[in-house]
Amino acid sequence: MSKHIRLAAAGLMLSVLASTNVYSAEKLTYYCSAQEDWCQLMAKGFEEETGIKVNMTRKSSGETMAQLKAEASNPKGDIWWGGTGDPHLQAAEEDLTEPYVSPMREELNDWAVSQAKSAGDKTIGIYSGGLGYGYNEDLLKKNNLPIPACWKDLLKPEYKGHVQMANPNSSGTAYTTLATIVQLFGEDEGFEFMKGLHKNINQYTKSGSAPIKAAARGENTIGIVFMHDAVKQAVSGFPIKVVAPCEGTGYEIGSMSIVKGARNMENAKKFYDWALGADVQSRSLEVKAYQVMSNKKAESSPKAPDLSEVKLIDYDFTKYGSSDERKRLLKKWDDEVSTLPQ
Ligand code: G6P
Repeated sequence: MSKHIRLAAAGLMLSVLASTNVYSAEKLTYYCSAQEDWCQLMAKGFEEETGIKVNMTRKSSGETMAQLKAEASNPKGDIWWGGTGDPHLQAAEEDLTEPYVSPMREELNDWAVSQAKSAGDKTIGIYSGGLGYGYNEDLLKKNNLPIPACWKDLLKPEYKGHVQMANPNSSGTAYTTLATIVQLFGEDEGFEFMKGLHKNINQYTKSGSAPIKAAARGENTIGIVFMHDAVKQAVSGFPIKVVAPCEGTGYEIGSMSIVKGARNMENAKKFYDWALGADVQSRSLEVKAYQVMSNKKAESSPKAPDLSEVKLIDYDFTKYGSSDERKRLLKKWDDEVSTLPQ
């Protein structure tokens, strides 16, 4: 074989190897539990900046937690970005995620770092947002319904069939709702509230923000969601009004974790550091993601809900993010609420 032919054959082999992704350093399997458009923006932004090929799946927070558990003996994901903090804390406790101390930590707000410290550095806060609900003003008027202002207003019989929330098993938003109601009213009264609410629910969706998207489309009247998700619809021109419930409300620390045994561990860490940067977090505004970002220098929008004006409860993340408590509450909701006739 001449030298030229040998060189050409070696080159061909290299390109075959590259196209079959033998070079794992060049990819990242990314599980995302935030808004779909923000998930995609992050995937594209990281790919463009690093050349690392990102393979993304969007699933709700509880679903992703279940997936990590199912894949524990043969992990397929590398990084889990976004979604409410409780399932990330549960994943940390169940040893499904990897400890990592990022050099970016000093740029973050205390609440984001506390989340990491409480979980042996296996997760970290990337954003925060308050829970509430939104309603379609036009539908409310059309149906002659009163304007709601409190959690307990949602129990009024005239709202029957007009309220939507997600299923707390799949959705972190809905689990935050359940845990918030239990913390606000106590467990017994809280479950009575959830049973009363059940009578008015028209559908339990899989994803947390679906109820307000349905309200924006005119297919549902009131959606229990994070307030920033309702603001996004209002800012996009839909007749949605946002409510911070009068009794007070809970909030999330949207989080990020590296999967234990990640096949592309170095790329997962690269993504992790990159995602904590102020410039990257400021890009959230491009997709109208109005959470409070964890990097102190990230830009915020005047349209974002002002959490300093909202009566926030002292949400107990350690308790409600613990594996036993989350499983217990979800089972109780399954057994005592979801099975009731409507
Ligand atoms: C929306 C919110 C996020 C939240 C996420 C949880 O995307 O904007 O702040 O973390 O929902 O999603 P899930 O489907 O698990 O309720």
